[in-house]
Amino acid sequence: MSVVILGIESSCDDTSAAILKDGVVLSNIIASQKVHEAYGGVVPELASRAHQQNIIPVVDQAIKKAGVSMDEINAIAFTRGPGLLGSLLVGTSFAKGFAIARNIPMIEVNHLQAHILANFIKEPGVEARHPKFPFLTLLVSGGNSQLIVVKDYLDMEMIGQTIDDAAGEAYDKCAKVMGLGYPGGPVIDRLAQEGDPNRFTFNKPSIPGLDYSFSGLKTSFLYFIRDELKNDPDFIEHNLKDLCASLQKTIIDILMSKLKKAAKQTGIKQIAIGGGVSANSGLQKAVHAEAARSGWEVFIPRLGFSLDNAGMVAVTGYYKYLAGQFIGLEAPADARMHM
Ligand code: KG4
Repeated sequence: MSVVILGIESSCDDTSAAILKDGVVLSNIIASQKVHEAYGGVVPELASRAHQQNIIPVVDQAIKKAGVSMDEINAIAFTRGPGLLGSLLVGTSFAKGFAIARNIPMIEVNHLQAHILANFIKEPGVEARHPKFPFLTLLVSGGNSQLIVVKDYLDMEMIGQTIDDAAGEAYDKCAKVMGLGYPGGPVIDRLAQEGDPNRFTFNKPSIPGLDYSFSGLKTSFLYFIRDELKNDPDFIEHNLKDLCASLQKTIIDILMSKLKKAAKQTGIKQIAIGGGVSANSGLQKAVHAEAARSGWEVFIPRLGFSLDNAGMVAVTGYYKYLAGQFIGLEAPADARMHM
């Protein structure tokens, strides 16, 4: 018998639904919320409302695009956390309603675990490479900056994480200081490609072990800009590309230094990067350059599966389904869910 899973993702500001059949993702529909652009960051209350509007149409499209019938769906997998509570509640409540209506089991999915298992997504007619266990993942997004050793599909160990802001947050907050809008990461990435990365230097943290910190960089960037604007009110416009390139270089240096340290410590050469910031052109270049030097084999999910999406939730749900890991209707959304 085939296994068909409906995956639901609503942890932050993307409402997504996906259908997976026998390990292959047949549809992955994502509704991104434009409403936050005007505020320079995600507004939790508005995110929950937008999820509420989007969830039914997104699920409907995912089922139609996959060409499966409702009766074929064996289980519903949903992101139970971590994330914004109001956002998670929409996906969690939808999953419960769907599970009751269809009389099928529910599978809870941890958002971080899903980002990692995105490396195992198969699509119809697409030749894909998958990492071998154990592999090391650098997970970098708007909410996460973690180093994780993946021993098996459902066996992972976090060996480093940010003690304050996430890398994506540093991008977004510094972009806001420069008036570049939200999300700032892709804009900085684009402008950085035409700037001088060595023009300005910003504070790098000295945190022991494999943990990250980005709040000091954000503050030093803010103070630097504030001081320069006193001498030249148009300092940002005059130096925008160099500012972006120098900031990007600093963030990538910070990310790479701990990734290299973790690879050395664990002796692992299968390296995956995931989360929204893994789309960054400079980070991808740096990882590939290090791969050539150190003999790493690198894995990066394609863009649709590296940003928040339900395809990764469905694939995680698939491995949990095979392992018989289901959850009861009483399970609450959990903003701080641990791996
Ligand atoms: O995984 P994701 O879609 O979800 C959240 O964590 O919400 O990641 C979004 C983050 C944002 O901070 C965004 O600025 C960042 O990923 N991002 C990038 C790039 N594309 C997205 N950061 C740097 N360079 C990029 N090309």
